[in-house]
Amino acid sequence: MTEQASLYDRLGGLESVAFLARTLVIRAMLNPTIGHIWNHKTEAEVQEEISGFVDFLGMHWGGPQTYHGPDMATAHRGMGITEEYWDALFEDIVTPAFAEFGIPQQEADEIDAFLRSFKSVVVGSPSFKDVVKSHPDMDVMQGMRSVGINWPAPASA
Ligand code: HEM
Repeated sequence: MTEQASLYDRLGGLESVAFLARTLVIRAMLNPTIGHIWNHKTEAEVQEEISGFVDFLGMHWGGPQTYHGPDMATAHRGMGITEEYWDALFEDIVTPAFAEFGIPQQEADEIDAFLRSFKSVVVGSPSFKDVVKSHPDMDVMQGMRSVGINWPAPASA
């Protein structure tokens, strides 16, 4: 049996993965349901997010990249991402992109499953601003955990 090429190579390597990462982030930014999250992001922050996303996807899909950014819980803790935002990401952006860019079914399914596997560490964190608002005396440097908000919930809970 011949070994199957990596998802990274099957998609067409860096050019395709970078195009996908850039397109998904830009469309998220322009989406009516979730775009507000990027309202006050700087040019450099958006550029860094895209290059971090390229490294993250490349590293997980068999490319030569190494992702140096925070883990996914840390990257999204305090962002206030809801189920509604999550659904908008997939319904408005991810799923339509597969057909639009002619990504074959098998690769589309792998990308979809990969992205969805992070749901529990992306969705459900309260917004950090709301946490601070309702705990005005908290030590922000100790984080939301210091006021009893453990997100994501421990796996054993
Ligand atoms: C509705 C869902 C999502 C929203 C609104 C969202 C939004 C964001 C935003 C605004 C950032 C930038 C944070 C910053 O500037 O420090 C970010 C970082 C990141 N997101 Fe998401 N995200 C979502 C889902 C996902 C999913 C499903 C993945 C797939 C694993 C993902 C992967 C990443 C990565 C890798 C970074 C870090 C980039 C870096 O710092 O190098 N996100 N996300």
